[in-house]
Amino acid sequence: FGSSIVYKKKVTSTQEVAHELARNEAEEGTVVVAETQYKGKGRMNREWHSPSGTGLWFSLIVRPDIIPQKAPQLTLMTAVAVTEGVMEATGIQAQIKWPNDILIDGKKIAGILTEMQSEPDRVQAIIIGIGLNINQQVEHFPEELLPKATSLALENDGVTYQRAVVISAILKRLEQWYLHYLQHGFKEVRERWESLAVTIGRQIKATTMKETVSGVAEGITEDGVLLLKKQDGTIEYIYSADID
Ligand code: BTN
Repeated sequence: FGSSIVYKKKVTSTQEVAHELARNEAEEGTVVVAETQYKGKGRMNREWHSPSGTGLWFSLIVRPDIIPQKAPQLTLMTAVAVTEGVMEATGIQAQIKWPNDILIDGKKIAGILTEMQSEPDRVQAIIIGIGLNINQQVEHFPEELLPKATSLALENDGVTYQRAVVISAILKRLEQWYLHYLQHGFKEVRERWESLAVTIGRQIKATTMKETVSGVAEGITEDGVLLLKKQDGTIEYIYSADID
């Protein structure tokens, strides 16, 4: 991955650029990186704050031969690869919060947004967007984010990192896991995901579009759906939510 890198100074969103390239036959493994995004997209239609030069804002195009229903597996695979890449590049312990936030010391360091171009029964391209806070200092964060977000530099006494080192560690892991996934399927990705996840085994609150459900996170299904065991013993399937 990354043998074809499209570098942009300023874009709406690297997702938009990558979608456009993918529609025009860009090859698998193409990576779009931007110095800053002025319409960075987060999950659930949120905005993603992408200040210039401090973080890694990039999108990767893959073209796995899978049905659209299996696409969430690639989101979990990406969370595993980003977590491992961050740990390899920095030596700092990182963990995953379901579905795909990466945390250090309980604070969010990275987020993943996957989008798909598909026909009813076949994926044409998956655009994997990764936003990783690297060299932000306290003053770069909006005040309301400080209690729950952090950067690699903040977790390293303010000492900064070379972004190129971090992105290459992540792309290497992404490529390794992707090839493994294509050859051997989702099983080991899921096991690795569960071993890196903070969510599993804990009492949590899941806020979906319509309600808040409490219970113990039991694990994830083959498709990455969170299994929540409620007080009355029944299991709720959580497809999309914020977890506290
Ligand atoms: C989340 O809400 O946690 C997901 C955030 C994903 C942000 C990245 S930054 C690179 C790519 N381009 C975007 O507009 N979003 C993703």
